Amino acid sequence: MNSMDFSQLESIIESQLSVKRMEHTRGVISEAKKLAERYGCDTSKAEFAALCHDMARCISESHLKAYLQEFSLDSGNTHSLELAHGKIAAELLKRDWALDDMDIINAISFHTTGRQGMSMLEKIIYLADAIEPGRKYPGVERIRELAYQDLDRACVESMKQTIEYINGKGREIDDNTIKAIEDLLLKERGSDE
Ligand SMILES: [Fe+2]
Ligand SMILES: [Fe+2]
Repeated sequence: MNSMDFSQLESIIESQLSVKRMEHTRGVISEAKKLAERYGCDTSKAEFAALCHDMARCISESHLKAYLQEFSLDSGNTHSLELAHGKIAAELLKRDWALDDMDIINAISFHTTGRQGMSMLEKIIYLADAIEPGRKYPGVERIRELAYQDLDRACVESMKQTIEYINGKGREIDDNTIKAIEDLLLKERGSDE
């Protein structure tokens, strides 16, 4: 992905997203870049994944369903339909932009849930999405601070908050989020020994 592709894709994405969602996307790009610099991750990959992570976020429900079928993704219930925008974005990038970098594909696919065995890039995109400057929710400051001290712990904290929020709404927790937390906690315990 060169800078030409980036700006081309940026204007396409801007035309497909609401003003608010594009503002959020720009916030995620700058946060992902900062986190990538902090942890020595590839900044251009981080910026690219951040640019694309919500590109399917403003697609109508009927179109999302059509894409789920086209890409043979599990549709599940409406809750997972809401979560499907990451996976659909990744499929569209593979189809239309010949994206074949598995790390970027996974970072986009799992940005809403996390998953077991997350790479550094995946953690950076997950967190940048949760703490970009436009995010305002109780506890965001703590996660923001933690994100620059300990990437794994920040992910765990953010995921726990998500679980509480989803529980509060009486919805089902995605299995990937549970597995991600277990995996990160296991690593933490392992590194303490
Ligand atoms: Fe998203
Ligand atoms: Fe997002």
